[in-house]
Amino acid sequence: MQAIVQDRYGPPEQVMHLAEVERPTPAADEVLVEVRATSVNTPDWLGTVGEPWVLRVQAGLRRPRTPTRGSDLAGVVVEVGRDVTDLEPGDEVFGSSWADSLATPGTFCEYAAAPADTLVRKPDGVGWVDAAASVMSGLTALVGVRDVADIGPGTTVLVNGASGGVGTFMVQLAHRLGAEVTGVCSGRNVELVRSLGADHVIDYTEQDVTEVDARYDVVFDNVANHAPKAMVRLLAEDGLFVPNSVGQGTRLLRGLPRMARAMLLGLGSTNVATIRAEVNRVDLTELADLLAAGEVETVIDRTYRLAETPAAVAQMLSHHARGNVAIEVP
Ligand SMILES: NC(=O)c1ccc[n+]([C@@H]2O[C@H](COP(=O)([O-])OP(=O)(O)OC[C@H]3O[C@@H](n4cnc5c(N)ncnc54)[C@H](OP(=O)(O)O)[C@@H]3O)[C@@H](O)[C@H]2O)c1
Repeated sequence: MQAIVQDRYGPPEQVMHLAEVERPTPAADEVLVEVRATSVNTPDWLGTVGEPWVLRVQAGLRRPRTPTRGSDLAGVVVEVGRDVTDLEPGDEVFGSSWADSLATPGTFCEYAAAPADTLVRKPDGVGWVDAAASVMSGLTALVGVRDVADIGPGTTVLVNGASGGVGTFMVQLAHRLGAEVTGVCSGRNVELVRSLGADHVIDYTEQDVTEVDARYDVVFDNVANHAPKAMVRLLAEDGLFVPNSVGQGTRLLRGLPRMARAMLLGLGSTNVATIRAEVNRVDLTELADLLAAGEVETVIDRTYRLAETPAAVAQMLSHHARGNVAIEVP
């Protein structure tokens, strides 16, 4: 089968290439999926460039231990492991191949093995690309909005990075729960974020969000471009700060120091919580239902072909994708 592989770390266009590799064999609890679509998320570009360097202890010191990146997928089941009883060849599914940061086998390829319990049936009315690209972004937003922040009618919510893959889902989900949502993005994305349900939009090229007078019950920070202390000043009494970015920063540590500083604030009087979205069928089904009902949509910036994956990963590395970056296979 064809797959995008990398045998060293570096810029996607230099280290990733299309190659003929062996089709994976599903383990007992896995299925083999003929991939129709996948998408690029933060762990994929971090794994491509091998940053933060400290993560190489897990991902492979000199070169990546697994050659193919990607975890989101939508496609058709072609083979099932011997313990899988509730999926069969021909089923149209979407979900994730995510096992852990070390062993995730990758979905930037024609056939991917994935645990059966991280896949659900794709609703008929939802396209391959929309389904695939909803997985990591949508589940992160769902867990953040529904569980971590417990948002309800009237909750005032600030979403920094409102026009990214995660942010576009956060804005829609918080709006749907009746929150008063403020999104932060650049001018070119103001109308998009408003159309997704934001009541207020701050264009960061015109106004520094840390200097606004408003205060919020929940602050989601998907960018980490300001010191956590400055973001926490935006909280209303008993408000909750949710740092959710490890992407930007030095090559050695990326956003980890800022995340650590945010967590330290949580040892004091500030409420701080992070989002840990595990892929499971309950949450995937909720996401599938929301997509099928048209209650949320997957915002797609651009859809690439499999062979163009290096450019897709490079686009995510720009930190200015509008919504999600998808890949159609083959
Ligand atoms: N907790 C988890 O399990 C989990 C899972 C996945 C991702 N994440 C985190 O979620 C974060 C967001 O990921 P993503 O997939 O949405 O993609 P992303 O590439 O981080 O976000 C792209 C968006 O960020 C916006 N942006 C860039 N600079 C900004 C600034 N200074 N202020 C406000 N917005 C800015 C861009 O809008 P403009 O073009 O308008 O600037 C663009 O639309 C990542 O940092 C990642 O680490 C967490």
